[in-house]
Amino acid sequence: CGIFGVVNDKRASHTLLRGLKALEYRGYDSAGIATLQKGNISCRRAPGKLVNLESVVNEWPLSGATGIAHTRWATHGKPTELNAHPHRATNVAVVHNGIIENADELREQLKASGVRFFSETDTEVLPHLIALYLTQCEDPAEAVRYAINDVKGTFALAIIIKGIEDQIIATRRGSPLVVGFNVDSAFIASDMVATSGMADEILYLEEDDVAVVRADSVTITDSDGFEAERQRVKVDHDLFTASKGSYEHYMLKEIHEQPSALARTWEGLASISVPRSKEVDFAKLDKLQIVACGTSFYAGLVAKYWFERVAGLIVEVDLASEFRYREPPMSKKGGCLFISQSGETADTLAALRFAKSKKQYCLSVVNVPNSSIARESDYVLRTLCGPEIGVASTKAFTSQLAVLFHLVKKAAQQRKCGQDLIKSLGRSPEHDVVSSMHQVLMKENRIKEVLPLFKDATSAIFLGRGQCYPIALEGALKLKEISYIHAEGYAAGELKHGPIALIDEGMPVVVVAPYDRLFEKVVSNLQEVRARGAKVLLISDKLGCEMCKSYADYIIELPTVNEILAPFINSVAVQLLSYFTAVERGTDVDQPRNLAKSVTVE
Ligand code: G6P
Repeated sequence: CGIFGVVNDKRASHTLLRGLKALEYRGYDSAGIATLQKGNISCRRAPGKLVNLESVVNEWPLSGATGIAHTRWATHGKPTELNAHPHRATNVAVVHNGIIENADELREQLKASGVRFFSETDTEVLPHLIALYLTQCEDPAEAVRYAINDVKGTFALAIIIKGIEDQIIATRRGSPLVVGFNVDSAFIASDMVATSGMADEILYLEEDDVAVVRADSVTITDSDGFEAERQRVKVDHDLFTASKGSYEHYMLKEIHEQPSALARTWEGLASISVPRSKEVDFAKLDKLQIVACGTSFYAGLVAKYWFERVAGLIVEVDLASEFRYREPPMSKKGGCLFISQSGETADTLAALRFAKSKKQYCLSVVNVPNSSIARESDYVLRTLCGPEIGVASTKAFTSQLAVLFHLVKKAAQQRKCGQDLIKSLGRSPEHDVVSSMHQVLMKENRIKEVLPLFKDATSAIFLGRGQCYPIALEGALKLKEISYIHAEGYAAGELKHGPIALIDEGMPVVVVAPYDRLFEKVVSNLQEVRARGAKVLLISDKLGCEMCKSYADYIIELPTVNEILAPFINSVAVQLLSYFTAVERGTDVDQPRNLAKSVTVE
């Protein structure tokens, strides 16, 4: 979900909609805004995408200079107008990001005192709870403090109160929230991207802070109720301007940005690390634990192959949602590496906190500066790919690979390992990757030629071995995310242990297999599926394509690179394949159904 708020802006409802536009990638099931009009709270809400809310506001405009706004990714209750935020009591309106775990219990208590509920959401208890405490305390911030003390779960909240026109109260626990300022107005947002072009300075609220935000000031009390200062930072507007340019979709633009994103990431690596403690020494580690979600998890899987083969370092890769509750024993000489584009994914953040509580050295790879994961890690390496707006991750993934590749080289050097492999990469592997990526991007027309295979498919399988196994997983994920075709990625060698039963006449099977030491093995697997009627698309390099001409139904030939670099190149091909398939099937590429870019609930 996304939260936005503005204090003292004559065109508040317009500004709120603008803020929501920038946050729509965080959820787009329904949206709503509320403003204070002559002291009274007025609300507009609409199910579906933001355009629906825009039409409602056009038809029934909202005046007022202070207001709050929300774009929802449904957790409790369907995406209907009744469940859309803001939620209200008579004198309080609230927008909420997160999950209130004891909502049922609070709801029963409030019902017993006569409160009526209208939605199925966990959020609706909050305005009523705050309203209850407002009858008991004079200071609204104190009432909010009492209310959050009753709440279990995660939240970022923006609250307006009837009769108090010049302020928003904001608070957070486990969900990010920034406060921004320009000369006239103040803003609150769940992601600083939303304040782009509006705020000149921002500050980040800490856990359990309660902030009273006015146009020219902010008063913050910390979790113990003491007044607290939070450092203001200047906003770098250039970093956050994101537009589609001449591309039809953000996703296509972001796919095309990869060569420059990688070049920038590598160039910047020396200067962008933000040390909070000593930089990791891989020679001292006996194990590296990588933790991430979604596409970032697959970047971690590629890194496992690299670290183990090149740097001789044992690596375990875990999904954050499993790791955090499994609470595995930690090696005394171990280190943890967290990978996250947004730096806000709830499970990854919780996993980081668990690892820190076990005194692990915590390194993170993030794209969003000052995100929670970045702020709480011991050491941060940033991907410099700029804002990624398309919900399906593309340039963030390959930029993560770029940072991980840099770390692997460093680990190899520190551990005095894999020097032959490093030498085999040549003088400038980074340059090779960037120029080969450009060549893959020129293959768009070739990729479009294979679309008949996928256009009406209901299922597809992606196969790969070694470091291309994670690329098969990522290719399948991309395809299902944006084209809604059921797709599975498998380690090619695992096929015969079950998945082969799925193969039937005409089923598309994508084989990601550069000509490397495992090539022959993958070719055997390719023949196994072909013998059972599958239609095979081989993604390989020159030699691989020549060897397999007669076995594959379709071939996409990619430039030849050192085998360790192959994941960079193959990723671009599978991204383009899913992108064009989705366009062909007419889905909403940048905002696929049910998904959100940044998942700040578990
Ligand atoms: C969501 C996004 C994915 C992303 C995952 C992890 O599910 O839709 O594209 O890979 O979260 O996000 P993170 O920001 O932690 O990389």
